[in-house]
Amino acid sequence: MASISTKVGNFSIENPVILASGILDETSGSILRSLRSGAGAVVTKSIGISERAGYPTPVISEVKTGLLNAVGLPNPGIDNFVEEYKDFPEKKRTVVSIFGGSVEEFVTLSRRVEAAGFDKVELNLSCPHVQGVGSEVGQDVDLVEEIINEIKRRTNLQIWSKLTPNVTDIVSLAKASEKADALVLINTIRAIGVEIYSRKFALSNVVGGYSGPGIKPVALRAVYDVYKETGKDIVGVGGITTWEDAIEFFLLGARAIQVGTAFLYDDYRIYSDIKDGINKYLDSEGFSKLEDIVGVMVNNAARKGD
Ligand SMILES: Cc1cc2nc3c(=O)[nH]c(=O)nc-3n(C[C@H](O)[C@H](O)[C@H](O)COP(=O)(O)O)c2cc1C
Repeated sequence: MASISTKVGNFSIENPVILASGILDETSGSILRSLRSGAGAVVTKSIGISERAGYPTPVISEVKTGLLNAVGLPNPGIDNFVEEYKDFPEKKRTVVSIFGGSVEEFVTLSRRVEAAGFDKVELNLSCPHVQGVGSEVGQDVDLVEEIINEIKRRTNLQIWSKLTPNVTDIVSLAKASEKADALVLINTIRAIGVEIYSRKFALSNVVGGYSGPGIKPVALRAVYDVYKETGKDIVGVGGITTWEDAIEFFLLGARAIQVGTAFLYDDYRIYSDIKDGINKYLDSEGFSKLEDIVGVMVNNAARKGD
């Protein structure tokens, strides 16, 4: 049987299927459930300096090809988070997602996360619907670079930089993330939903983030462009619901994938379905390990001078 273990930065993962930030990961209990159901790793809901309630409803709206959400980064704040995870047994397989409005906030959060016994952070530089944080910070190439460099300088954490697709040049953001251990591509795409009879917006915040199957081609393009230009370790995310989707991301350069909105259509079996499918694909296509297919389509294109 082919090996589906993988490595993202220095993090060796038994399998490449990771729970994305913001879905079924609000509590330590739900995170453990994903890990025990077969996830290789999980990313927590994004945590900020202080507790936030998020936006009033409606915060989620289903569309034919996915989901619109503007939940507004509800989270317990770093103090409560640290308290809840004091005796958590799976700190090495849990990546803590953090968001902030400045370099100092990101550094403060990172140091707290490290002091709490975790060794990996995912930087939410990409949430598209909250003022002053997320993609508002993450569109600024210089700020992205400074945030990552300062966290590297002041902690020993591994850094995953989660980038926004809501820019024309995601490769510049990837290059600004040079000191990150990995790039996570992509967060949701800015979008609006309209209710024609009430003539209201589908989300209380008007603008939200679009996720699910409809955004997969956009995520694949981001992975392709960034892998071709930087060769960095990439975690692919956006619209993955099946093992075939996951393979597409690996072929374009992702070393692992995250699954989020798929849980709208499926249950925890999704982890084993994707893992089994990857395994069978590698066996039937004559590959002995996952690593053998990472980026092969990009490398091929480069060889042909595309
Ligand atoms: C309801 C919801 C909440 C989310 N919350 C976060 C979050 O707190 N931090 C973050 O970085 N991404 C968040 N995301 C984005 C996902 O992690 C992921 O990048 C995006 O949904 C695309 O993947 P998918 O199509 O598999 O869902 C959220 C997505 C959804 C649908």
